[in-house]
Amino acid sequence: MIKACAGAVMLLAAALGAAQPALKSYDTAAKVFRLDGGGVSYVFGVNARGELEQMYWGGRLGATDSFPQARPMPEWASFDASYTNTPQEFAGWGAGLYNEPALKVTFADGNRDLVLHYLGHAETAHGFDVELKDIGRKIYVTLHYTMDPESGILARSATIENRELQAVTVEQAAAAAWTLPAGHYTLNYLTGRWAGEWTLNQEAVHPGARVMESRRGSTGHQANPWFALQAGEANEEQGEVWFGALGWSGSWRITVEQDQLDAVRVTGGFNPFDFGFVLHPGERLETPVFYGGYAANGLGGASRLLHRFELGHILPRTGAKDAHTPKVRPVIYNSWEATEFNVSEAGQMALAEKAAALGIDRFVMDDGWFGQRKDDHAGLGDWYVNTQKFPNGLKPLIDKVHALGMDFGLWVEPEMVNPDSDLYRKHPDWVLHFPGRPRTEQRNQMVLNLARPDVRAYVLGFLDKILTENQIAFLKWDYNRNWSEPGWSQLAPVEQKRVYVEYTKNLYAILAELRKRHPKVEIESCSGGGGRVDLGILKYVDEVWPSDNTDPFDRLTQQDGFTYAYTPQIMMAWVTDSPHGLNKRTNSLSYGMLSSMQGSLGIGANITAWTPEETALAKRLIAAYHQVQATIVQGDLYRLISPRNGSEFSATETVKADKSQAVVFAFEHSTQEGRGFPLLKLKGLDAAAEYALSSIEGKARAGTPAVASGAWWMNHGLEMDEGFRGDFQAAAFRLDRK
Ligand code: DGJ
Repeated sequence: MIKACAGAVMLLAAALGAAQPALKSYDTAAKVFRLDGGGVSYVFGVNARGELEQMYWGGRLGATDSFPQARPMPEWASFDASYTNTPQEFAGWGAGLYNEPALKVTFADGNRDLVLHYLGHAETAHGFDVELKDIGRKIYVTLHYTMDPESGILARSATIENRELQAVTVEQAAAAAWTLPAGHYTLNYLTGRWAGEWTLNQEAVHPGARVMESRRGSTGHQANPWFALQAGEANEEQGEVWFGALGWSGSWRITVEQDQLDAVRVTGGFNPFDFGFVLHPGERLETPVFYGGYAANGLGGASRLLHRFELGHILPRTGAKDAHTPKVRPVIYNSWEATEFNVSEAGQMALAEKAAALGIDRFVMDDGWFGQRKDDHAGLGDWYVNTQKFPNGLKPLIDKVHALGMDFGLWVEPEMVNPDSDLYRKHPDWVLHFPGRPRTEQRNQMVLNLARPDVRAYVLGFLDKILTENQIAFLKWDYNRNWSEPGWSQLAPVEQKRVYVEYTKNLYAILAELRKRHPKVEIESCSGGGGRVDLGILKYVDEVWPSDNTDPFDRLTQQDGFTYAYTPQIMMAWVTDSPHGLNKRTNSLSYGMLSSMQGSLGIGANITAWTPEETALAKRLIAAYHQVQATIVQGDLYRLISPRNGSEFSATETVKADKSQAVVFAFEHSTQEGRGFPLLKLKGLDAAAEYALSSIEGKARAGTPAVASGAWWMNHGLEMDEGFRGDFQAAAFRLDRK
């Protein structure tokens, strides 16, 4: 048991470069826990019954403010018991709970009643571990709370331990439950599909539950494990917003429910659908982490906090010079849209030569280089170099890429197998399946059961070999289908649902081990685009591929949605050929370049066919991008005009943390009724400082000052040139503090 401890403890967070110290305290008399970080306070306590109850989550309170002991909510007539009305931090399903439980179990004797009470706690570096126990049975739950001193983002998770003499089946396990006071809220959440990820949905919260989830075994394109709740009239830059994101790349669920007394509860963790983790005596189950934050300055403020948190606390630091920020992503060339499966030594070398001439940093060879891979029917699982395409292995190409001054990256899809492969012929039992049932194929492939120790060893083994034998700086780790028939035939039937936990844990373990053995290698999470983007995988990968849709106009809306949850640092964006394959839309190269420059720029076009003019334009813009990339991808992002809902215009601004530089992008979809582009009132600059305006592409209105104060750019605003009209026009500017 964790021993209860007393007294208030102040932690100085200077070591983390925090702007304000993080505070944590426990009031022994009132049994109240308080965590403060950034502009946020989070307070919870033990009520008279012994339940752990949330008491406050919002703007930072005064240092001397205190709370009395938590009071359970009263019974509402005879239908809603106090237990269900009380906003518990982690409610067991029992005692008349009608709201979403955090934990639901079945004991060996058939008892399904679970009531968790406070047992004790321990202080940790930036928070608390609080131990709960069922009122009778030996089910122990330790709730972990870690407050980020800078952003006030709280990381919460739970460890569930069975100290009974018999196994207990965990049917539902959340990482955390969050409560917002009764009120009117708008829920923001992200949905999509292949080539259509990152749609921001905004809808009023009504009584009842709204569920966002994946039942697919991985994060999924269709919904992303992030939410934001705006209070009342809050908008992009004003008002209160509570937000959260789950760090889990397996099946997940977030339930937002307005309860019977109008409070809003958000519960998230493993998806309980088809869940059933048999917890043996002495065994523990760790839930994913659910991160939660609060901003007083709208959705923009919320996403800026999340971006900083991801940069500072989630993403790996591969090759970073400073301990707090990852290095900016190399500008890559990727061969996929130019060659698809038709890769060859000569063809890739020709692309590499052209890429180097553009000022590209990294050359990535995509699908098609291995096994008997001619198309998507064969080869997955056979990770040897195809000697018809590369008679001398990968070395000549890699050497050439290095000689051209770039580093080399390679595509892999480690978790998949084609039935037409040596691997499947040898190990048909390695895929997810139920014996005697069909094995549904998608893109002619099946999912290897990474939960199996032998599959895990195989995947780690071949990846380690490839990285050891070749000078590879980067892996694009693809994952092109979701699960079906998720059986694990090695295990007893009752144990097989462990696959929902063990698969993802093994994925993380492989990524962690590869990074340990090859600390310089960088990795991208791709799942046919943005099907595996979440705060779980982002601890192990340096970037993600947001979508297979590279149409630069569609990308504006996708990038807008993406940045509500994720930093532009990880948002890879390639410039590809026009007309675009998906929409058949034609755009100028300059428009495509600027659209991609909002994120981490890459080129994926058939550059061997580019004209000298196109080559010169791309080269100039890549050089300009290199100069301001850190501001664009790591600065504070302001979405000045949203491209959503058929907007004629869109614009973003990013400001470097020290306010020394800002970059502005403006996109004209199609001029209507002769309307000029709206005035852009910039944000986040130092009002008293002088900033020089220069064009990256396009012109400001004649007469715009070359140098003006931050106050001018923010109050008067930046005006576009009168000629900035028409279809699919783009402009970009930088402002540098004098
Ligand atoms: C899906 C990815 O999203 C694409 O970029 C490409 O790598 C293909 N897979 C290759 O099969």
